[in-house]
Amino acid sequence: MSQPRTILVTGGAGFIGSHTCVELLSHGHDVVVVDNHQNSVPEALHRVEKVAGRSLTASYVLDVRDRDALSGVFATHPVDAVVHFAGRKAVGESVRMPVEYYDTNVGGTTALLEVMSRHGVHRLVFSSSCSVYGVAERMPLNENDPAAPVNPYARSKWTCEQILADVCAHRPEFTVHALRYFNPVGAHPSGNLGEDPCGVPDNVMPYIAQVAAGLREHVTVFGDDWPTPDRTGVRDYIHVMDVAEGHRIALERPAPTGMHLLNLGSGQGTSVLQLIEAYHRASGRPVPYRIGPRRPGDVPELVADGSAAEAVWNWRPTRDLARMCQDSWRFQLHNPRGYRPQSLSDRAVREPDATAPPQHHRAAFRSNA
Ligand code: WQD
Repeated sequence: MSQPRTILVTGGAGFIGSHTCVELLSHGHDVVVVDNHQNSVPEALHRVEKVAGRSLTASYVLDVRDRDALSGVFATHPVDAVVHFAGRKAVGESVRMPVEYYDTNVGGTTALLEVMSRHGVHRLVFSSSCSVYGVAERMPLNENDPAAPVNPYARSKWTCEQILADVCAHRPEFTVHALRYFNPVGAHPSGNLGEDPCGVPDNVMPYIAQVAAGLREHVTVFGDDWPTPDRTGVRDYIHVMDVAEGHRIALERPAPTGMHLLNLGSGQGTSVLQLIEAYHRASGRPVPYRIGPRRPGDVPELVADGSAAEAVWNWRPTRDLARMCQDSWRFQLHNPRGYRPQSLSDRAVREPDATAPPQHHRAAFRSNA
């Protein structure tokens, strides 16, 4: 299979999307981004170019469910492959807003697939999630373990995987990698790119970072009655740059057509209390916490068996938990309020005007010389 050259990254201004854009640009790919900034800000793309030392070919403010606007992007750029991040990703939030999760995550994926087919683009890397495994008896989890999602976010990802499998069965020209990442955390080592949640962080790592920085009083540990060694939730944290590398390798390594499911995880389980301690060590700051009730939709433990990715790609994550916390802390120190210079706000951020026509952040073409 030829090396992809122009990669369309949906959700490219998001946490994992922006780090993947840096990884792709740094390895010579041309990158076009579409993002509706529902959970990101345009500043992230300026940071991408600063860190990568190269420009994006173009970026557009649009919702992937807007098929006409998305088709315009494919008509303007010679897209060879797509990495699809655009979506909602917080377990707790999905329990509160299931319809939005299915509409965004599933509706966005079917719209993308239809437009890709219309333009003869048949190569896709899909952002899936370990949460499709649900409450599993045995750890670590491999790709043959049954999916048993227990919250709307996880069910939306599982539904997308089923759709992609059906498309690959029906359209043999498609090559799809569905990457089930465990818990991506950390930041680019430069300190200029990281996780910039809108409002109150749903995920534990950015919340801990803001407590260590003195921006929030304490971490609330969601339950200390889980069936785990220290009774708090166990997850498999993986450095976001390892996740970004996995996406690049999925695009670059030769692969047969069809559907490929791969876990991206470190294989190491870390409890909430262990993560708090690791962050304290990395930052040198106290990280006060209180025990609270379990969060609806949570599961006790999720740890990856990453041997399939190692066997197929001869690759495994290389950055350890200390590095994840150090890189996260460096970004937090350099960017106390993330990419938003205004004061930290607990309010939800302004919803982007969904009726606004797609904006072009940049001149349509730039020489990549
Ligand atoms: C981790 C642990 C919580 C917040 C995430 C993403 C999802 C997917 C999988 C990629 C759990 C506990 C949390 C807090 C806490 N990633 N916690 N206090 O739920 O595992 O899912 O990774 O697709 O997109 O949402 O991550 O960081 O929310 O929770 O005690 O304030 O921390 O109970 O045990 P989760 P998380």
